[in-house]
Amino acid sequence: MAVSASDIPDVPVLEAIGNRRSFRYYDPSRTVEDWKIHTMLQAGRLASCQGNINATEAIVVTKDSDLWDEIEECVSGFNVQIINQSSHLIFWLTNLNAWYGRANDGLSTLALSGALTKYHGWNYEFTMTQTVPRLMSFPTERTENLLRFESGQAVAQSMLAGTALGVGSILIAFGRKPGGVEKAFNLPPHYRFTWGHAVGYPLEDMAAGGQRARIKFDRLFHDGAHGKPLQMADGLEDALKGKNMIQAQAPLPGRYEEIDRLAAEFSRDPGVVSWPAKEIERLMNDDDWDFGPNIREHAKKVLADGDLPDYPDEMRETFEKLMTEHGIDASKYLS
Ligand SMILES: Cc1cc2nc3c(=O)[nH]c(=O)nc-3n(C[C@H](O)[C@H](O)[C@H](O)COP(=O)(O)O)c2cc1C
Repeated sequence: MAVSASDIPDVPVLEAIGNRRSFRYYDPSRTVEDWKIHTMLQAGRLASCQGNINATEAIVVTKDSDLWDEIEECVSGFNVQIINQSSHLIFWLTNLNAWYGRANDGLSTLALSGALTKYHGWNYEFTMTQTVPRLMSFPTERTENLLRFESGQAVAQSMLAGTALGVGSILIAFGRKPGGVEKAFNLPPHYRFTWGHAVGYPLEDMAAGGQRARIKFDRLFHDGAHGKPLQMADGLEDALKGKNMIQAQAPLPGRYEEIDRLAAEFSRDPGVVSWPAKEIERLMNDDDWDFGPNIREHAKKVLADGDLPDYPDEMRETFEKLMTEHGIDASKYLS
């Protein structure tokens, strides 16, 4: 039956942002409806893109694909279960030749759409003799940086659209076999495989155990100068909670039982990974993180339960070397 507007739920965008999680458990017996996948792709297609060049493409794959085994060999080990339980995989691609081959037409569509105007100084001759040739002279590495950023925008919009439709998503690394995805799909050399995206109906609760802790707002955002904390508007935190954008932080009650139940159902190991006691204590005292009561309480329980690993000594040298290379004081991590 054809989809109609009344089939599509009305979820406010701020609430969809709040509802989004990276889901890692999917119901292997449920297939996401084509129209929902297509709506997610539409959301990607409508994302902002430089000069309207439409560099982001995607290949949609299901498990009946002849390429499935090859794909499975490429996905990072910790994502194998995820792809095999998901309903669809979306391989997001970035077409570098859109930059070199479509800038002219992309800008022309913008002019014809009433978006590029003389008001802002656009001028055909200057555009064709200066702007476009300059853009087209960029080396592919620079173009790749620019275009992958906008593919990210498309993917983010697609994930939010899926969230609004009650569909779970997660981005997944395909690091096991570099170049393997490009080879499986026989992509022309000007295409980059930007990211893999698994889609499905979650088996875990739609809150996936709660919103994940982030670094504090005023540590991430700066007021006019880097390092000067931007204070959030008065009352906003509560207002955003009222709109379900900011939601209860993980872990919600029952999360660990849920993980163990799912593990038992699929004959996998129960439990989560633990960090050493000293590391957990340090993290809980780190004022950069926005830790609410749920995670603090859980950390206390983990510490009380004990049986935590030690920091692997062989990592010290590696951490120290790598962090020093990047000008980071490693002492707090290695004390
Ligand atoms: C570009 C990108 C790649 C990611 N790759 C993986 C992955 O390979 N496996 C995985 O389990 N999660 C992956 N994630 C999910 C993040 O770990 C996740 O966003 C993080 O746990 C925060 O949780 P949230 O998305 O539920 O807020 C990825 C996220 C992004 C943005």
